[in-house]
Amino acid sequence: MIHESSHLRRRRPARLLPLTTVAASLLAVAGVPAEEHVATFEHGAHQQQFVHGAPQEPSLEWTIAAGGRIYDTWWDALDRPKPETTNPAYPTAVNDKQSGPNTWRCKECHGWDYLGAEGLYSKGSHYTGIKGVMGAAGRPGEEIAAILRDANHPYTPEMISDEEMLRVATFISLGLTDMRAFIDYETRTVKPDAGDIDRGRALFQTICAACHGFDGRAMDWGEGDDHAFVGTEASALPDEVYNKISNAHPGAAMVNLRALSEFDRISVLAYAARLPVGLDD
Ligand code: HEC
Ligand code: HEC
Repeated sequence: MIHESSHLRRRRPARLLPLTTVAASLLAVAGVPAEEHVATFEHGAHQQQFVHGAPQEPSLEWTIAAGGRIYDTWWDALDRPKPETTNPAYPTAVNDKQSGPNTWRCKECHGWDYLGAEGLYSKGSHYTGIKGVMGAAGRPGEEIAAILRDANHPYTPEMISDEEMLRVATFISLGLTDMRAFIDYETRTVKPDAGDIDRGRALFQTICAACHGFDGRAMDWGEGDDHAFVGTEASALPDEVYNKISNAHPGAAMVNLRALSEFDRISVLAYAARLPVGLDD
């Protein structure tokens, strides 16, 4: 089973599938620490600006995607220290399964689908009873940013600056999608009629495949025999992967499709959910 990204077990960069074992044994012989080689997917100095910085003249599309990455995991998005303790605003009396850094992530209280207790987090290990952010869609960014300094949101400017808060507020205001249109909430899978598979295939093969391979298995961020490929994650956690497609994975040198239409992003998700989920598929 694939679990939702905890970002606790993700400190290790993804493995380059076919080479890992070979490289590890060769390196063991040569006496070089394997980690130096496994770090293939850590971004280089030339990508620092793209991954953590901001353009001089930010487009609306860039701003929304950057805000979406803050919503996902702000410390990875912004290259800040990860909070060590549990968020004092997190309702531990309601949910004692979550603790530590994750309780500081927007998605942990409001959901990958932005619907909070009315969405996919209406039950299960992420339940808090907190409402979603969909009700704030369309409201002015400044108004939303002000909410993000209230007692429910004990973020200091050292954690997330005012300018960065405005980015995530812009994402809430203009960047949300109602996923009930293309995800089956009973099974948490992509609906069979979602998007256009041919369009999704075209986008995947010409964009995503550069890093993930044509079958989505060039990178594996699983642990041991617990593989996690694009297909694995898209079939088990489509709401999370829709966020990654739209905004990219925070802290990784990954592209995002924010400048393309919502329908295109749904199509890529639908195609990705048909890719192999395991090693032997
Ligand atoms: C520890 C849980 C928690 C985290 C983490 C959290 N929030 Fe909230 N948020 C709340 C609660 C509680 C409310 C108030 C809900 C209510 O009024 O019923 C709220 C309200 C909101 C609202 C207003 C919704 C509305 O309809 O008025 C927005 C927007 C919002 N949060 C965005 C964010 C963003 C963006 C982040 C991350 C930077 C974030 N939240 C992180 C708990 C959280
Ligand atoms: C320029 C390289 C690049 C491209 C292009 C790219 N990705 Fe990624 N992607 C990455 C890297 C790097 C990671 C981080 C892997 C890790 O966890 O270390 C990643 C992570 C992911 C993840 C896992 C996120 C998680 O929850 O851990 C998914 C899903 C994903 N990519 C899907 C896609 C899709 C779909 C596309 C096409 C729209 C795409 N990627 C395009 C580099 C890329």
